[in-house]
Amino acid sequence: MTGTNEQAARAARAVIPGGVNSPVRAFGSVGGTPLSIVSASGPTVTDVAGRDYVDLVASWGPALLGHAHPEVVAAVQDAAARGLSFGASTPGETELAEEVVARLTIRGTPLVERLRLVSTGTEATMTAIRLARAATGRDLIIKFAGHYHGHSDGLLAEAGSGLATFALPGSAGVPAPIAAQTLVLPYNDLDAVRDAFAAHPDRIAAVITEAAGANAGVLAPLPGFNGALALEVHKRGALLILDEVLTGFRVHAAGWWGLESSGVTGSTGWLPDLVTFGKVLGGGMPLAALGGRAAVMDLLAPLGPVYQAGTLSGNPLAVAAGLATLRLATPEVYARVDRASAIVADGVHDALSAEGVTHVIPRAGSLFSVAFRSGEVLDYADAKDQQSWRYPPFFHAMLDQGVSLPPSAFEAWFLTAAHDDAALDRILTALPAAARAAAAATPPAT
Ligand SMILES: Cc1ncc(COP(=O)(O)O)c(C=O)c1O
Repeated sequence: MTGTNEQAARAARAVIPGGVNSPVRAFGSVGGTPLSIVSASGPTVTDVAGRDYVDLVASWGPALLGHAHPEVVAAVQDAAARGLSFGASTPGETELAEEVVARLTIRGTPLVERLRLVSTGTEATMTAIRLARAATGRDLIIKFAGHYHGHSDGLLAEAGSGLATFALPGSAGVPAPIAAQTLVLPYNDLDAVRDAFAAHPDRIAAVITEAAGANAGVLAPLPGFNGALALEVHKRGALLILDEVLTGFRVHAAGWWGLESSGVTGSTGWLPDLVTFGKVLGGGMPLAALGGRAAVMDLLAPLGPVYQAGTLSGNPLAVAAGLATLRLATPEVYARVDRASAIVADGVHDALSAEGVTHVIPRAGSLFSVAFRSGEVLDYADAKDQQSWRYPPFFHAMLDQGVSLPPSAFEAWFLTAAHDDAALDRILTALPAAARAAAAATPPAT
């Protein structure tokens, strides 16, 4: 396929709303023409015009090993040759669940005893909420402003990701009574959680939280926040749903919980009741999951009264990609991603500092983002309180030099184990000009 990105975007807009199948891809907040990608390999993506870019989007997280890792591709090809989908159980599903359970057992404590595979993170969080409501007999849920948990009706209020990019408070088409079941609180604020439980005694089924916020830029939990939250939630007879769709198997072999539990950051010894996974779990294929203690998970049909199903759930190609990815995701892979991430984050800091651009680089493990402000970024209000108009020229200066960043200031940057020194050099070389573009940016006329 050949042509230009402009031609591809025009053709797409004629038949696809906004020309995209997920809003952030539209370049809405950075302007210009979105890339139309035809192939990807290792740290690079190639557009329809044949130009390649060092990629820091990584399919929005899944490509931990880099794009099209040969062993992952071979596993998918091998699975495809045996049939695309059976609508029946497969040995691979069990192997994948066993792999996840094993990874999430730290010092003998298993985070997950049962795992149900679904196709998207949205399904995983939606089902986790339904389970929590069934388990507690309560209706209300708490989510944090700026956290994104997919696009099910009840979870769109003050969500991050595309809603942050487009400055939307929520979505049209969500009935008010459904929106009213979700209480939205400021992140990293335990007092707000205590107050909400006090205001709604015995009515809150669950608190859902990103393990580390990464959808309004990076919003790391304060040290000890997740552990204290678990304590508070359990004291009130509610469940804690830890959303590891983005962080799971990306920041550590056992996700953000693993990072905290191994004492690297935060607090140890706390256990959420339900955990959701996606992205890296499917290695680039549509696969996600929810897991937890058997007592809660076994409320799912066919054992229990909570219904959940999916024609393509546990799809054999997706399972093959996921299993191959997890088996390849060794400690060396995480060390490489950590190193690449630190080099780029430090490079961004140095380049912006050299131009005198006020900024902070919030980090959560190997995830980071850039916020054009001074002071910590603890919650969604902080994340929005920045000179985000500096990002589009910064973004485009990088793109012009062959580096593809997330097309929004409100998204994390994703490094992969395939970002070798040559790829890192290309990024570092491009940064000074991007920093100059950010320095020269002017606020939009109001
Ligand atoms: C933390 C988190 N939860 C849930 C989702 C939704 O996953 P999906 O896009 O696969 O539906 C996302 C997607 O970005 C996410 O980052």
